[in-house]
Amino acid sequence: MWLTWRDAMEHALYGDNGFYLRERPSGHFRTSVGASPVFAEAVLRELVAVDDALGAPPVIDLVDIGAGEGVLAAGVLAAAPPGLRSRLRVTGVDLAHRPARLPEEIRWTASVPDGIHGLVIANEWLDNVPVDVAEQTADGPRLVLVDPSNGAERLGDRPQDADLAWLARWWPMRAAGERAEIGRPRDEAWTSVIAGLVRGRAVAIDYAHPVDDRPPCGTLAGYRDGAAVAPVPDGSCDITAHVALDACAAAGERAGAVTTVLTTQRQALRALGVTGARPPVEQARSDPRGYLRALARSSEEAELIATEGLGGFGWLSQTRLPVAQPG
Ligand SMILES: C[S@@+](CC[C@H](N)C(=O)[O-])C[C@H]1O[C@@H](n2cnc3c(N)ncnc32)[C@H](O)[C@@H]1O
Repeated sequence: MWLTWRDAMEHALYGDNGFYLRERPSGHFRTSVGASPVFAEAVLRELVAVDDALGAPPVIDLVDIGAGEGVLAAGVLAAAPPGLRSRLRVTGVDLAHRPARLPEEIRWTASVPDGIHGLVIANEWLDNVPVDVAEQTADGPRLVLVDPSNGAERLGDRPQDADLAWLARWWPMRAAGERAEIGRPRDEAWTSVIAGLVRGRAVAIDYAHPVDDRPPCGTLAGYRDGAAVAPVPDGSCDITAHVALDACAAAGERAGAVTTVLTTQRQALRALGVTGARPPVEQARSDPRGYLRALARSSEEAELIATEGLGGFGWLSQTRLPVAQPG
């Protein structure tokens, strides 16, 4: 059976007994959310800034899209100061079932809600939105088909016109044999987020590449049990591909975003106070336990902002309707 990559990913990840409906993501790979609670603290700081900018409304949303095991949503809720917590409405959005032991006040849905006033955060969501793969031939781009049972590939038809237009604008291929992941479904997914946001900020965080530096062979990859594996879409492993966040940004603007910042996690987290600074050595003598705690925290911060690691992720941050920048 030959499928397009988009159909094969959809079935392998979210179909009956699909990878994400069956598995706990943290058993297979490490995200910023799982790396350290420092990440949730930084998201809380972003939420506080959005709340201030919105004038502390009676209800402020935190919507975590692709919430996985709910760790980020629960972490922000637990750390929120009382004056914010009493007004905070936290929603986890995931196709996976509601995690056990999630605090009761966290709502759980399978689709992006409407009427959001507050902060949307989507950490490593878009890279799991299924995409088609195209390969350049002497006659132009052709879809790549895959056999889900073993990952074997062959070429199929020309992509549909909308996908050809997307490729021409966002991922032009030059030489025969080059491959591209057609990011249009990610643009549409992000459009639904901006459309659901009435006032506030939406942030997508992911492995990303810019239009002038796309990888010539694409980025399709598989992960299982903490290791990279061949991306066979048989439901046994995660299937992921890096995100054309610049294309998502343009889609967000068409959907009504009024400001856009596209930066790295390193820059974004540093602006939120995550610096990786080590504690002063004198503290080792005056407060040895505090020193060890501070040292552990600084190494967690360093992991989150490491240029060659999580710090190299893209942060796409867009706002909807006027949100004054906090003073
Ligand atoms: C890589 S995990 C990230 C989990 C968590 N955000 C983290 O950073 O640890 C991606 C999650 O996105 C979810 N997901 C993918 N497509 C989705 C969609 N269209 N709607 C809701 N959730 C989706 C998957 O089920 C999975 O739990």
